[in-house]
Amino acid sequence: MTFDRIRTQQDYTDAHAKSVSDPEGFWAAQAETFTWRKTWDTTLVWDFEKPDIQWFAGGKLNITENCLDRHLEKRGNKLALIWEPNDPKERFVRLTYRELHDRVCRYANVLKRNGIKKGDRVAVYMPMVPELMIAVLACARIGAIHSVVFCGFSAQSLADRINDAGAVAVLCSDGMFRGAKEMPVKSVVDEALEQCTTVRRVIVTERVRWAVNMVAGRDVWLHEELTQVGADCPAEVMDAEDPLFILYTSGSTGKPKGVVHTCGGYMVYTDYSFRNVFQVEESDVFFCTADLGWITGHSYMAYGPTLAGATQVMFEGVPTFPDPGRFWQIVDKHGVTIFYTAPTAIRSLMACGIDHVLPYSLHSLRVLGSVGEPINEEAWHWYKTHIGKGKCPIVDTWWQTETGGILISSIAGVTDEKPSHAAYPLPGIQPVLLTAEGKEITENEVEGLLCMKFPWPSILRTTWGDHERCRQTYFSSYTGMYFSGDGAKRDAEGRYRIIGRVDDVINVSGHRFGTAEIESAINTAKGVVESAVVGYPHDIKGQGIYAFVVTEKPVEDPEDMRGSIIESVVASIGRIAKPDKIQFVSGLPKTRSGKIMRRILRKVAENELNALGDTSTLLDPAVVDEIKGGKL
Ligand code: WT7
Repeated sequence: MTFDRIRTQQDYTDAHAKSVSDPEGFWAAQAETFTWRKTWDTTLVWDFEKPDIQWFAGGKLNITENCLDRHLEKRGNKLALIWEPNDPKERFVRLTYRELHDRVCRYANVLKRNGIKKGDRVAVYMPMVPELMIAVLACARIGAIHSVVFCGFSAQSLADRINDAGAVAVLCSDGMFRGAKEMPVKSVVDEALEQCTTVRRVIVTERVRWAVNMVAGRDVWLHEELTQVGADCPAEVMDAEDPLFILYTSGSTGKPKGVVHTCGGYMVYTDYSFRNVFQVEESDVFFCTADLGWITGHSYMAYGPTLAGATQVMFEGVPTFPDPGRFWQIVDKHGVTIFYTAPTAIRSLMACGIDHVLPYSLHSLRVLGSVGEPINEEAWHWYKTHIGKGKCPIVDTWWQTETGGILISSIAGVTDEKPSHAAYPLPGIQPVLLTAEGKEITENEVEGLLCMKFPWPSILRTTWGDHERCRQTYFSSYTGMYFSGDGAKRDAEGRYRIIGRVDDVINVSGHRFGTAEIESAINTAKGVVESAVVGYPHDIKGQGIYAFVVTEKPVEDPEDMRGSIIESVVASIGRIAKPDKIQFVSGLPKTRSGKIMRRILRKVAENELNALGDTSTLLDPAVVDEIKGGKL
C-alpha cells in the first residue's frame, strides 16, 4: 500500500494508523520519493529530554535539487511562479520551473562571488518580489543558512536578528511598494548595520528605483552582479540534519528566538503536508497570501509548492489596494484554484462588504485554507458562502513556526470539516491534551494543554545559539512531550479545536508577540516607569494590544504621550506591534512578592469588570478600582 497520497477517509485512517505503529517505515517511504545524493543510515533518532531529534541521519541531499532540478525534465515549461505586483496596472511576471531554476542558480553564483559559503548565515530583508523567493532558494542551493526578517520589523529588530545569528550578509531591496505607499528598505538596513559587526556584504535588488546610499566595499547591486555570473551552479551537498534556515519568533520572554529547521525532515514534511492537506493536483494554481517572512511563506511558498512542482501566485501588495476586491481580482485573473489566507484578512474584507466580492466570479476556486489564529464561526461561514460559493472545502490548518508544517487540519474534501475546528492530526502527528499537572486526558469532549508525544520530520531541532532555551521552552514543561503553548478542546469525534495561547504570547492579526517584548519597548519611551501588556478580543485583528502604563509624572497631554510610546514600539519592534489601547495608571496590580497580576488586567481589557476574581492577595487593592475607572 502507498501512503503517499490520501484520497479517501479510509486512506487517512490507514495512513495515520501506519504512522503510529511504524513511524520510521511510514516516513522512510515518503522520503524515498525524493532525490538524495546518498540514502540515510538511520530514519529517526530522538530523545525529547535533551532534546536530540534527527531524521534521515547520514542522508545527503540539496533541497533545491528537489524543488527545481528534478522537475526540469517533466515540468520544465510548467509555471512555477506567477508574481502579481502591488499595482494591478504593472505587468505581472511569470517564471517556469526552468526559468526559476536559472534565476536561482545565477543568484546563487552571485552569493558565491561575494564570498558567501556553506554554513554562513544570511539575513534576507525584502518585500514580496520574485527575488525574495529566488534569494531564499539561492541560499539553500549553496548551503548558506537563510534568516528571513519580515519587512514590517524595525531596524532595531533586524539588527538584533543579524547579531544573534552572526549573519555575514544581508539581501535586501532599495525600497518597497505597499498599497498607495512607497517605503524604504535599504536605509533601514543601513541603520541596522550601525549596530552590527559581522556583515560584510549587502546585495541590493532594485525595486522602487530610489536613490540609495551604497557603502563602497560593502554594498553591491544585484543587477550589476548578475552580469558577472553564469547559470551553472551545482547544488552544495548537505547532510539531512544540516540547518536549512533560522526563523525568529516570539515567546514569553523579551527576546525573540531563532527557530532552526534542517534540510531533510523539513523537505519531506512540507511536501507531504502541502500535497495532502490541500489535495494538490498537477493543474492547480495555489495562492498563499502570507508574507514569505513568516513560516507560512517558508513552508507553503518557498518550499512546499516548489517541492510538489506546483504553480503558485506570489502577491506583492495588500488586500485592500486599490480596493478590497484585490484578492478576488487576482483569483479570477490567474485562475487560482487553492486559496490560503488568515482569518484576520477574511474578517477585514468581510467588514468592507460583499460589494467588493460580487464583481468576481471566483469559479476557479476549489479549496480554501485558513491559518495563523482561530477562525471564528462568522468568518468561517462568510468564507465558505461568499468566497467558496458553498462548494469549496475549508481547511483550518493549525501549526507553528516551531512545527515547520501543518500538524492538525482536515484534509480538503476528504475528512470532514466543522467550523472553527482544525480537526484531525495529519499522519505522523500524535497530539495529546494534558491537565495543568501534566496528566494525559484520554477521553473526548475535554479541554487541555496541547502537546505532541512523538516527533515528526519538520519539528524544530534547536534555537540558534541557545539549545538550553529550546529545551526549556518546548520540552521541559512536561517530560517526554513537545509543548505547543496552546490550549485546545477535543470533541466527541476526536476533532481538535484550538482555543489559543496559554502563555504570555499574543496573536495580533496572525503576528506573534511576547507581552514582555512589547513592554520592554514601551519602557524605552521617555517618562515611562513600567508597563504591562495584555491581549483583548479585537473584531478584526483577533487580539488587540492593551497596554497599562505607569509614568514618572502625571500625564499632561495623553495624546502626545501615547504618540511617543507608539513611536518607541515602532522603533524597537516595528509598525506591526503598535498598541491599540494605552491606559495611564498610577500603579499596576501586584502581589506582595511584586508579581504583576495579569489575570486582573486581562479581565479589565476584556471588559469583564465584575469578574476580576480574588484580589485579596494584592499589595494595594485600591489600584484596581482606579484601573477599572480608567478603562478605555
Ligand atoms: C500560533 C503559532 C502557523 C503559521 C502561522 C503562525 C496560532 C496558528 C492556527 C489555527 C488556531 C492557530 C496558535 C499557534 N495558530 N494556526 N489554525 N487555529 N490557532 O505561526 O507565528 O508560529 O504562531 O498561531 O496559537 O501557537 P506562528
